[in-house]
Amino acid sequence: RSTRGVPRLRMAVRSSAISAVPPILTKIQKDCATPLPVLRHVSDSMSADIRAGLAVDGGSDLQMILSYVDSLPTGNEKGLFYALDLGGTNFRVLRIQLGGKDERVIATEFEQVSIPQELMFATSEELLDFIASVLANFAQKEGGKFHLPPGRKREIGFTFSFPVKQTSIDSGILIKWTKGFAVSGTAGKDVVACLNEAMDRKGLDMRVSAMVNDTVGTLAGARYWDDDVMVAVILGTGTNACYVERMDAIPKLQGEFSPSGRTIVNLEWGAFSKGLPLTVFDRDMDAASINPGEQIFEKTISGMYLGEIARRALLSMAEEGSLFGESVPKKLSTPFVLRTPDLSAMQQDNTDDLQTVGSILYDVAEVESNLNSRKVVLEVCDTIVRRAGRLAGAGIVGILQKIEDDSKGTIFGKRTVKPPIQSHTVEAKSNNKSNLSQYFQHCNDHGWRLVRTLPQYRRYLKESVTELLGPETSHHIVIEHSKDGSGIGAALLAATNSKYDHNY
Ligand code: GLC
Repeated sequence: RSTRGVPRLRMAVRSSAISAVPPILTKIQKDCATPLPVLRHVSDSMSADIRAGLAVDGGSDLQMILSYVDSLPTGNEKGLFYALDLGGTNFRVLRIQLGGKDERVIATEFEQVSIPQELMFATSEELLDFIASVLANFAQKEGGKFHLPPGRKREIGFTFSFPVKQTSIDSGILIKWTKGFAVSGTAGKDVVACLNEAMDRKGLDMRVSAMVNDTVGTLAGARYWDDDVMVAVILGTGTNACYVERMDAIPKLQGEFSPSGRTIVNLEWGAFSKGLPLTVFDRDMDAASINPGEQIFEKTISGMYLGEIARRALLSMAEEGSLFGESVPKKLSTPFVLRTPDLSAMQQDNTDDLQTVGSILYDVAEVESNLNSRKVVLEVCDTIVRRAGRLAGAGIVGILQKIEDDSKGTIFGKRTVKPPIQSHTVEAKSNNKSNLSQYFQHCNDHGWRLVRTLPQYRRYLKESVTELLGPETSHHIVIEHSKDGSGIGAALLAATNSKYDHNY
């Protein structure tokens, strides 16, 4: 019983096998497996879907939405701007005073409120009125270092993280809600017009200068510091990606013009569906969802769903294999009772007897567990997180492959075409031979920031990128957290698209 024995005991517990592996666990592991051929199939299909979606609207699962963002922040932006960020269970308002090349960000302030659950199922007026009133309240507190010259309206960059068919940088029609939102009366309408009406109702005299998806906001925010960023990926409540594309590589555009010759395209990759290894629990969860048959990639890899897939698997093991003893814990039948942050906390458990796993199971679902059942639970979590991280990696490689094919091999470090990265971040600086960086954004939602809060997710994602590209090539790809998320990026795009001259 001396302390010297402890590490050995820990190792013994950690490496000891689960006694009597439940057949359902074996089946889940088999169905979730992502060996290299599966990853390759996913990344190749992602590339093919990107091309098909760029060729013609409706050409693939991927909508390949044009953002109308064709110039990205340069660092010269000046003035006071606001941002709204709506897209998950939290809503954020932010203001930023930009000082141009030398001063950059003079000051920022933000507030975050969680969206009352009932508003996710309310009318669009109710949701937008709530947003306008939070904004009005926040705008009233402006002062200090924030300064708007007289005679100008406050301008807003609006991050709206749902599929929108953009008609210009400051207008667009909502295609559908995702991520559990089912607000009535917005689909088919111009979201900015609806928000303007809500602001009018609150007597708020502000103007939306840019409406962007969160991926686009993230890319813009990242570009503010680093010219080499080409792809932004969101791994949060939902999941999505965008990248910088050449206008002449978008056949469906036909004649639209961008002075820079480039534009950002929002994949809406949550809708991707090809070659994904799925289990019966995924299929059941999808069937019971408010959007069955839709957003299959999102339902497999994003934070909103990982806990629920695990819950369904554990419930089935409890019912059919007496995982938690003779009776089935009643609360385990409640949909979404196990959340992805719970999975994350359980995966960080370092105690010998998996105490954290035990107490989380008890706290969230009143489950009594022994060491063996806790080990099974962890195995289930790991299987689901591993599949998610590896598939996210394969999706990223799919985008990179498309860029690489079009650039005839100049991207993956074979030729350095750019000056060294001028970046803010340690990672990018240490890899300044690379001419392609990637940005990750964690979701605003506290606790559903997959890459940040789930180290396992990050590890599996990187592992799959390396497996797919090989160690040498993947060395040239920098994957990192975005510093600020999408809000500041949206404010920067409001500045880029400002109707006023802000060089005062
Ligand atoms: C959902 C939305 C998409 C958004 C993503 C991440 O997939 O449809 O627009 O970018 O979630 O928030």
